[in-house]
Amino acid sequence: MARIFISYRRQDSEGYVGRLYDHLMRHFEAEQVFMDVDSIPLGVDFVTFLEQSVAECDVLLAVLGPLWVSATDADGNQRLLLDDDFVRIEVAAALAQGKVVVPVLVGGAKMPRSADLPADLQPITRRNAVVLEHARFARDVDRLVEAVRQLTAAKAPITAAQRAEKETALKAIRTDLIAATDSPLYPIRQENRFFPVLGEGNPDASLLFISEAPGINEAKEGRPFFGQSGAVLTEMLATIGLTRDAVYVTNFVLDYLGEKREPTTAEIAFYAPFVERIFEVVRPAVIVAMGGTAARVLLKKFDQPEATHKISTIHGKLMPVTAAWGNIHIVPTYHPASVLYSASWKSWLREDFQKLKLFV
Ligand code: URA
Repeated sequence: MARIFISYRRQDSEGYVGRLYDHLMRHFEAEQVFMDVDSIPLGVDFVTFLEQSVAECDVLLAVLGPLWVSATDADGNQRLLLDDDFVRIEVAAALAQGKVVVPVLVGGAKMPRSADLPADLQPITRRNAVVLEHARFARDVDRLVEAVRQLTAAKAPITAAQRAEKETALKAIRTDLIAATDSPLYPIRQENRFFPVLGEGNPDASLLFISEAPGINEAKEGRPFFGQSGAVLTEMLATIGLTRDAVYVTNFVLDYLGEKREPTTAEIAFYAPFVERIFEVVRPAVIVAMGGTAARVLLKKFDQPEATHKISTIHGKLMPVTAAWGNIHIVPTYHPASVLYSASWKSWLREDFQKLKLFV
């Protein structure tokens, strides 16, 4: 059940927000919608308090009226530029925490220009906005509700025949992969009698997990994430109530590299058409890239500026992107193997997985 946080500036959009709230109440339970976080307990750091309130939600609706950017305080300071502006803290926290952030434009407001915003709010300009117009308010809110549902819901179930079709399509990709003797890694596969590792799991999964390349254990079995890191992945999935067969798991490179190293650009490019075909069969609602290399490849594929950022700064962010089969999210996270070395990485990985619950 998605929880929605409404962030707004009183002097800017209070009237619209009251109406919005009433309409949302026709679609959601009262416990699902949060606004007016004005009961901050005495003695509590209000920044921490607001960040935690945002952390408890899945979606933040940022209501932007005509004064959202320009509103000033009693001393004439532009509120949005102040570090203690509640609106800035809420929206920046949601963006930094990788929440689904939907700008909701009211009162004729336009999406602000990135250059007019402080750096921590600039990513909001890359989120698709919903416009609420006075004359067709109910209809616009229905569209907003539908968008929130789509952003937070798992995929609709498919028929047995559709599932069988997807299984057949995946088998065809496997056959082509086995026949891919022109792969730069084919000699290693051939010499060692390894298997190529296509991927496995639910052919219609909402969540598709992708990493860089299979290890030796995986190549011996022809199955992804079969070794120690596979055990970590299975454990993490269990923390959100999922088993391995509920999701689809694959890699950007579909053969063993022959040694412990990063895949080359040429190797990634060789397998890209196979990976693309897997994506288009499974049509996941979310693609989770595990590890720095996979994150870089996935973010680059979807033209995300964060592609060059370190995994430590972008892990757990839900990034809305448009794939060939529709609007989806991509999420970078740590490689399961990394947690074998660090307890803090394990807790970050666990936190990142919690965000995926939204799509289960
Ligand atoms: N590591 C990966 O990156 N992929 C696997 O399939 C297994 C381990």
